[in-house]
Amino acid sequence: MRAVGLSYAGRRLEVRQVPEPSITAPTEVLLRVREVGICGTDRELALFRLGFPPAGEEFLILGHEALAEVVACGSGVSRLRPGDWVVPMVRRPCRPPCPSCARGRRDLCLAPEQRERGIFGLHGYLTEYAVDEEEDLVPIPPSLVDYAVLIEPLSVVEKAVETALRVHQGVPVTALVVGAGPIGILAALLLRLRGLEVAVHSLEPEDHPRAALLVEAGITYRPRLEGLPADVLIEAAGSAEAALAGLERLAPLGVAVLLGADDAFGRFPFRGLIVGNRSLIGSVNASPSAFAAAVEDLGRLDRRILDRLLLRLPFAEAARSILAPPEVTPKRVHVVAD
Ligand code: BGC
Ligand code: ZN
Repeated sequence: MRAVGLSYAGRRLEVRQVPEPSITAPTEVLLRVREVGICGTDRELALFRLGFPPAGEEFLILGHEALAEVVACGSGVSRLRPGDWVVPMVRRPCRPPCPSCARGRRDLCLAPEQRERGIFGLHGYLTEYAVDEEEDLVPIPPSLVDYAVLIEPLSVVEKAVETALRVHQGVPVTALVVGAGPIGILAALLLRLRGLEVAVHSLEPEDHPRAALLVEAGITYRPRLEGLPADVLIEAAGSAEAALAGLERLAPLGVAVLLGADDAFGRFPFRGLIVGNRSLIGSVNASPSAFAAAVEDLGRLDRRILDRLLLRLPFAEAARSILAPPEVTPKRVHVVAD
């Protein structure tokens, strides 16, 4: 079968023929991949800034935002049947389990090295078939299949928003999202769904289609960083400067969650954090309950907005998508099988 991935020997992105996987344990499920979304992590991987191949191999199949159909189930699989739709979680619990993995919070794994499909030491889904444990698969209702490729990025946002609202020690009213990529847009939509007044700040000009999409969803778009201080700040810009500038807009009791910023150099507002009882949080990956929340909330989001988030392209163009700079349409999705 075809697979798009990284050759660590050749230091390049390649399309290869790889053997089809098969079920080897009763709790395993064979999947046919239907769609895979591309994100900034894939671009970082292709630049060899993070990630590593499975032990003893020099090739890593990319792709971690997947939607797949169940093709066959091992004899010990109880909840899934052939024909069901699933989204795989990205991270695998460590073994023997650390305290976080033992209580079902693989996203908080304390092992020195995590295992994540398509990223760290495990093959991803930019290929035709994959095998997973049933416990690593999130069932998707058929009514959500057209948008379910967004569930993995939405799960990352669910965790961030849940954390921010839980940590805030007052009544959060205003939210600021920095960055208008897929994560920023999904964060803004989710905060709006939670009833907050949401603004997005990003580099795109005011007449950019992403700004128009946000405004249509009831979200303010700000090419300049101004307006009311934010009770909740979500950083989704991948930029230290943007994160620091956003922190300056954090209201007393405000909670900032960093999702993509690089390391910063220079002045850091510790005093402001202290005297304003503000919180700064880093967040990565998503718990099984964040995936469940993403399934729930996806069904509540406006489909006309979601349609404008997605650009579907053929599987054959996946390598080009990973290397190309982001486009006007926020999320590139490659259709592996119809
Ligand atoms: C994925 C997460 C993953 C993170 C770091 C993100 O793109 O959505 O699931 O934990 O990359 O590897
Ligand atoms: Zn991703």
